[in-house]
Amino acid sequence: MTSSQPQPSDSGAQDGGFEPVSRRGFLHVLALLTTLGGFLGSLLVACLRALLPSTGSPSSSGSTSYLKVTQLDKLPADGIPRSFQIIADHWDAWNRHANQPIGMIWLCHRPDGEILAWSRTCPHAGCLIQLARSQDHFQCPCHNSRFEIDGSRSHENSPSPRDMDRLEVEIRYQDQIWVNFIRFKSGISEQESMLRS
Ligand code: FES
Repeated sequence: MTSSQPQPSDSGAQDGGFEPVSRRGFLHVLALLTTLGGFLGSLLVACLRALLPSTGSPSSSGSTSYLKVTQLDKLPADGIPRSFQIIADHWDAWNRHANQPIGMIWLCHRPDGEILAWSRTCPHAGCLIQLARSQDHFQCPCHNSRFEIDGSRSHENSPSPRDMDRLEVEIRYQDQIWVNFIRFKSGISEQESMLRS
């Protein structure tokens, strides 16, 4: 006499159900999803950076990072350097922090109309360069590097291995001062961007 009870099959596939996923297959799919997620995340960040309004974001290449610093009428043409903060959007892994102070510079508007800019970061070890009280030279308080008012080193045996780091300046929209802000490596005689290594 044959039983009318259904017999258990060997596999789910034969049951018409899903085939069990092996552990290796599961890990493979997981790795694929992780890679895809990372790619889509990077794509999203890139799109947001392109779309969101910004006061300026330094280029990751370190080559060109023009940022608006101030207006012409805020910088008297008397040849006396004045300190300005560099404000820009800052990104960590996923978040955008708008209008953050990212550095400081000296700006000098000469009576002949030329505008000069230097980083305030000392090329020796990164301290903040000050303007002397006499306003006729710069001085670094950490190890006494002295620089002339044009940014050149006052002494050959200065602790600083190079002159103050000069930055390019552009006047845009008739009265805005924009500076190509780059951070340079300290402790070396050549001017080398920190983002190029
Ligand atoms: S950090 Fe400026 S002299 Fe040393």
